[in-house]
Amino acid sequence: MIEFQQVSKIYAGEVYALRDVSFTIGDGELVFLAGPSGAGKSTLLKMIAGMEKPSTGAVMMNGQDISKLKSGSLPYLRRKLGLILQGQGLLLDRDVLSNVMLPMIVVGESTADAQTRASAALERLNMLDKAHSSPLALSGGEQQRVMIARAIVNRPQIILADEPTAYLDRENAMIVIEALRAFQRSGVTCIISSHDEQFLDQANRVIYLNKGEVTDAWTSAAAA
Ligand SMILES: Nc1ncnc2c1ncn2[C@@H]1O[C@H](COP(=O)(O)OP(=O)(O)OP(=O)(O)O)[C@@H](O)[C@H]1O
Ligand SMILES: [Mg+2]
Repeated sequence: MIEFQQVSKIYAGEVYALRDVSFTIGDGELVFLAGPSGAGKSTLLKMIAGMEKPSTGAVMMNGQDISKLKSGSLPYLRRKLGLILQGQGLLLDRDVLSNVMLPMIVVGESTADAQTRASAALERLNMLDKAHSSPLALSGGEQQRVMIARAIVNRPQIILADEPTAYLDRENAMIVIEALRAFQRSGVTCIISSHDEQFLDQANRVIYLNKGEVTDAWTSAAAA
């Protein structure tokens, strides 16, 4: 369970990126974060990943205040998370398989295990045939699917996806959303930011942000 308790984030002492934000997300939910550019979506996702700390308020995960974690505990938090963040694209100096193996290598898993699980992750995203391609040889939608494979390779409990459908046509965007839905059905919590209102009906819940404030939130019984 993830709980924001009256969270505000003030950058440089003046810009309110988030203002008094409170909500709870249960395990296994699919949540969309909607709202215009600058609303605070990326800031909110980075806080769940422990990459930004609230200026005031608390971000709780399974009853623990993330912002109070010592830096030595952050790797344990990160292992529970699969991250698809803005500006964190694929590395162009290695092939698709090596990109997907990377999160496992970073946490000290063996190359053999990383290879096996990265291949399985690519297969789930229907990208195994491109395992030895350069990311440069992939379409935008294919790159996005590889980034999802990279995010799930450590078997996260929670996937945080910042604008995973940006720059994609409708067909590729659907493929990406469907892939995330499939993980959610298997019990993974998915929190997805998007400008794109066409997918909101796929969510259990939508949280609208504007200028750092939650302006609306709804929960769908039908999608649960
Ligand atoms: N590191 C930073 N330093 C100062 N201000 C920041 C920083 N990061 C974000 N901001 C400001 O905080 C506000 C929220 O930014 P954020 O990136 O969370 O918005 P967003 O909803 O993700 O927007 P977009 O849809 O364009 O990605 C913006 O006004 C932004 O300029
Ligand atoms: Mg953003």
